[in-house]
Amino acid sequence: MKAIVCGGSKGIGFAIAAALKKRGHEVLLFSRTLATLQEAADRLGGAPFIQGDLGEIRDRERLIAEGRLHLNGLDILVINSGGPPPGDFRSTPLPLYDRAYEALLKPVVHLHQLAAPAMMEKGFGRILTVSSLAAREPVPDLILSNTFRAALFGFIKTFARETAARGVTSNLLLPGYVDTERLRELARKRGGVETVLREVLPTIPLGRLLDPAELGEAAAFLCSKEASGVTGTSLAVDGGALRGIP
Ligand SMILES: NC(=O)c1ccc[n+]([C@@H]2O[C@H](COP(=O)([O-])OP(=O)(O)OC[C@H]3O[C@@H](n4cnc5c(N)ncnc54)[C@H](OP(=O)(O)O)[C@@H]3O)[C@@H](O)[C@H]2O)c1
Repeated sequence: MKAIVCGGSKGIGFAIAAALKKRGHEVLLFSRTLATLQEAADRLGGAPFIQGDLGEIRDRERLIAEGRLHLNGLDILVINSGGPPPGDFRSTPLPLYDRAYEALLKPVVHLHQLAAPAMMEKGFGRILTVSSLAAREPVPDLILSNTFRAALFGFIKTFARETAARGVTSNLLLPGYVDTERLRELARKRGGVETVLREVLPTIPLGRLLDPAELGEAAAFLCSKEASGVTGTSLAVDGGALRGIP
């Protein structure tokens, strides 16, 4: 199948691209930095890529149009990028909510609008959005992620119910604590990697951070033909960290 993986040059996105490639799919990567795109493409043994910013309307339009042309079709779309800055209620002014909407929610809606009509027409499509366990259980000091990622449930569920009969699924992948550059950067801002690991590890029943490849495998299932009955829902890959009953 033909797949576009946004934010596919690093971390969870790269692991998803690698898992899709391993299954024989054609994968096109998208992210902002040319050097890391090239590096990621090489690590995959060669892959086409498009440089752009998911926060920009024109880049999103260009991605789907050019990506579809390049791949000669589009069956799988993985929506993934970086996360919003940390902050709590008192330290997060209103304009940052506008920015978080532009970065986290609007691109997801817009990419569904751009990709889904052709998928519905041919009767097949898989859309997967990488969200966060914060969508189900808010994480302290991540108020923007907690707010906008929870909103994605409403959109995905509504979309999925409208498109299920046309062969198009849309789901959310909820990563727990995954050992990526972003996690380490957030930890450095919060008092150092070792300190944060000492706090976080006891909350993960698995007893360690997730490997990005574990997210890749779960994503590959949700994007497979076999996952035809799974839509409008979320899959947490969190080593058991979420405590609530879904
Ligand atoms: N790691 C975790 O523990 C964890 C936990 C819960 C949720 N998540 C969420 O999972 C997602 C991926 O996290 P990660 O840890 O894999 O992050 P990461 O290692 O920082 O990778 C992010 C990827 O997205 C690309 N990207 C970022 N902003 C972009 C934009 N505006 N347009 C296009 N591409 C963009 C990056 O490349 P460029 O910077 O070159 O564009 C990179 O390829 C994030 O939304 C994060 O909040 C992660």
